[in-house]
Amino acid sequence: MLTKARNDMLTKVGRGTPMGELLRRYWQPIAGASELEANPIKPVRLMGEELVLYRDLSGGYGLIDRHCPHRRADMVYGWVEESGIRCSYHGWLMDAAGRCLEQPYEDTANPKPSKAGCTVAAYPVKECAGLLFAYLGPQPAPELPVWEPFTWANGFREIVLADVPCNWFQCQENSCDPVHFEWMHDNWGSRLRGGDANAAPKHLKLKFEEFEHGFVYKRVREGQSEQDRYWTVGRVALWPNGFYLGSHFEWRVPIDDENTLSVAWFFFRVPKGREPYVQERVPTWVSPVMDEHGRWITTHVINQDIVAWAGQGRIADRTKENLRSSDIGITMMRNRFFAEIEAMAEGKEPGGMIRSANAAQCIALPNMARELNTEGIPLADFDKDPILRQRLREFRHHYGQPPEVRRAFVEAMGIAGL
Ligand code: FES
Ligand SMILES: [Fe+2]
Repeated sequence: MLTKARNDMLTKVGRGTPMGELLRRYWQPIAGASELEANPIKPVRLMGEELVLYRDLSGGYGLIDRHCPHRRADMVYGWVEESGIRCSYHGWLMDAAGRCLEQPYEDTANPKPSKAGCTVAAYPVKECAGLLFAYLGPQPAPELPVWEPFTWANGFREIVLADVPCNWFQCQENSCDPVHFEWMHDNWGSRLRGGDANAAPKHLKLKFEEFEHGFVYKRVREGQSEQDRYWTVGRVALWPNGFYLGSHFEWRVPIDDENTLSVAWFFFRVPKGREPYVQERVPTWVSPVMDEHGRWITTHVINQDIVAWAGQGRIADRTKENLRSSDIGITMMRNRFFAEIEAMAEGKEPGGMIRSANAAQCIALPNMARELNTEGIPLADFDKDPILRQRLREFRHHYGQPPEVRRAFVEAMGIAGL
């Protein structure tokens, strides 16, 4: 249980709030690069800031104030040029540093045009593994962490976005919550499919560890032992707002205090023998969270999570909760945020930040599935593991995978006959 003041500290993300300032110190995934192919301009609301993301004709990315500095028209309805984005109202041209390069009428008719005061907010954007990351904090920006899976070859990658109507922190608490797998995904999932509920193997033992890039949770369930990778390796709640499960990442990116963009990046290695496989583009798609009747979609794993997150309310009221021993990881996570916020108030740099370009090149994280993803297994072996077998046959994480993404996946894996 937390006081309202402490809950506000964890959940408010506007500029100038303690958490808002902390999160701005880390690169945040905001889009898939492939989203900008059909239309090079995308509106982005990020930690309460109204921005426009674009790719100009020279291939550079920009993330600047959505409103034109002239008379505030919406830059989303402008167009991109060689070196920036032009407002469609009176043609002012802005660049990725937020500078106004041209004011067409003034440049033509006014002998001394002034662009003073016309610079807008602008944030650096970097592409990595098909994702676009933005940095909204003070300069100099830290290095963009290149997590090891981003360097893996011979895999099919895809990016899935979902709009989640609640605060980011309750989504992130789910990254350090092993017991919910047993109930939400196993027992409830089984019940939703008409099967037996409450039959899933029980959690017998939990352990939570802290490291530079977050927390590792470990577990033993009925039928497992301390020799299993779930105990010897575990899974990662990635600092500050990510989750890493061995073959995919999820990030909970705050849109504002009451909305979150769920950004997930998936890697499926092609079966042994299908190499070399080079993916031309990483597809990005948006997963709907509600059906046409306004009810939550419950068929897929992350959709189920979203039901839990949004069900806690727009901003979970942590003055009314009752934490137990299953929630030790959540308490650890909260305490680390409080400690980092305090350290920042004393002028210290928050943890987990990478300042050396070398160190950022390929950062390994605890991973239960490293050999599967790097070495690969023959197609026939997928059938020996129920989870892998199912992974080939259907995309279980998010509802709504477009048919063209499925087709590209099937072709990459060489499983047209399945
Ligand atoms: S409002 Fe954008 S150019 Fe006038
Ligand atoms: Fe989950």
